[in-house]
Amino acid sequence: MNVNALRPQRFKLYIETYGCQMNVNDSEVVVAILAREGFSVTQDMQQADLILINTCSVRENAEQRIRGRLDVFRIEKKQRPGLLVGVIGCMAERLKEQLLEEEKAVDLVAGPDAYRDLPQLVRNAGTGQKAVNVLLSREETYADISPVRMDKNGVSSFVSIMRGCNNRCAYCIVPYTRGVERSRSHETILQEVTALVEAGYKEVTLLGQNVDSYRRDSADETISFARLLEDVAAVSPALRVRFATSHPKDMTDEVLHVMATCHNICKSIHLPAQSGSTRILELMRRRYTREWYLSRIEAIRRILPSCAISTDLIAGFCTETEDDHRESLSLMQQALFDYAFMFKYSVRPNTPAARKMKDDVPEEVKSRRLQEIIDLQGLLSAQSKQRFIGHTVEVLAENISKKSPDQLSGRSSQNMVVVFPKKHYAPGDYVQVHIIECTPATLLGEAL
Ligand code: 5AD
Ligand code: SF4
Repeated sequence: MNVNALRPQRFKLYIETYGCQMNVNDSEVVVAILAREGFSVTQDMQQADLILINTCSVRENAEQRIRGRLDVFRIEKKQRPGLLVGVIGCMAERLKEQLLEEEKAVDLVAGPDAYRDLPQLVRNAGTGQKAVNVLLSREETYADISPVRMDKNGVSSFVSIMRGCNNRCAYCIVPYTRGVERSRSHETILQEVTALVEAGYKEVTLLGQNVDSYRRDSADETISFARLLEDVAAVSPALRVRFATSHPKDMTDEVLHVMATCHNICKSIHLPAQSGSTRILELMRRRYTREWYLSRIEAIRRILPSCAISTDLIAGFCTETEDDHRESLSLMQQALFDYAFMFKYSVRPNTPAARKMKDDVPEEVKSRRLQEIIDLQGLLSAQSKQRFIGHTVEVLAENISKKSPDQLSGRSSQNMVVVFPKKHYAPGDYVQVHIIECTPATLLGEAL
């Protein structure tokens, strides 16, 4: 593709996104940057002049999936030699030039802090030059860029409030692929949220690797996450506010009290535990103990009795014994998580764990422990849903149900998916729904 020659015309961009919510929002930033160069998004890969794949490196199987997609793009390129393919995001940052060497499909590589350079990278790749930018930044927050929303419903949107991570948990690649932590200006966050409200959005999810360490200093004040949350909630009483991810070592009671005071902050907290064993938590460099974690759960239950709590758990981290594993199971039973994301430990190159520890839990033991965690969470999730039967919850309707055009689906404040007969309601409406029954993933009810 000769981008210079084609400039007045419109190009088609096909973009696929893998991994976390932050990547979803980053893809929207990328679309905004490339829109200025005449690119519009297509859902059809075969129409595309440029294919971008926004990638995740957090576990090995995430990377394998992306390699599989690159094979598909290579076949597409064989049929259309002018097509350009770019890898962006965490895998681009981790593998850098190596990606150009290993993957025949790839023409350009851009890390998470290099998206402003994409127009130039596309031009270079279009003329057969090397196109790699994986510089990490201490400042970049894309604060001035209005992401082009790619959700279909126009109801719920992500807003990034910070980038990067300084925690360096032993197993985690994120601090190396996304760089150091930096907070976006309070003012631009509020402007973006206000613009979303004006465009009819009803829910925002504030995103950061560790939202509790959000901090902006100005001449006369310091803005903490608690203050930011309060200010975002004040933008409009009709706007629901969510956030992720909280860190057990940093989550303050002040944040919980703001949640209790503001009716429009959803009562749902994602608080990754990773393990229930203090010994493993120390090896993971999580900087809290089992007791500290449980004391944070107790604070949530005390200050926000109706709050749902979800978590992340890793099975089979280096040196994990049966006793350590049983401590994870017992932590789950004590915390009564409503939902969990559960993973087998996967060694990530150049992380502290990969450099200093042996991945010594056999694969079959990891699998069995993960299965025990999944089975227990299945019971806890079912119990959590059953508690809502017979009660009425406020649901923000988001989509027509995939299973039936007569049903709407949305989420409660506790982030439970609720499906109910549509009647005269539409996506974007707040609906009081009386819960009648539940499936493993969903609450079912009737609109009042
Ligand atoms: N192996 C398995 N799970 C991991 N996570 C992060 N790094 C790894 C890894 N190397 C999980 C953690 C984190 C979530 C986003 O992914 O549970 O909270
Ligand atoms: Fe990774 Fe830990 Fe940072 Fe989360 S807090 S992104 S697990 S290093």
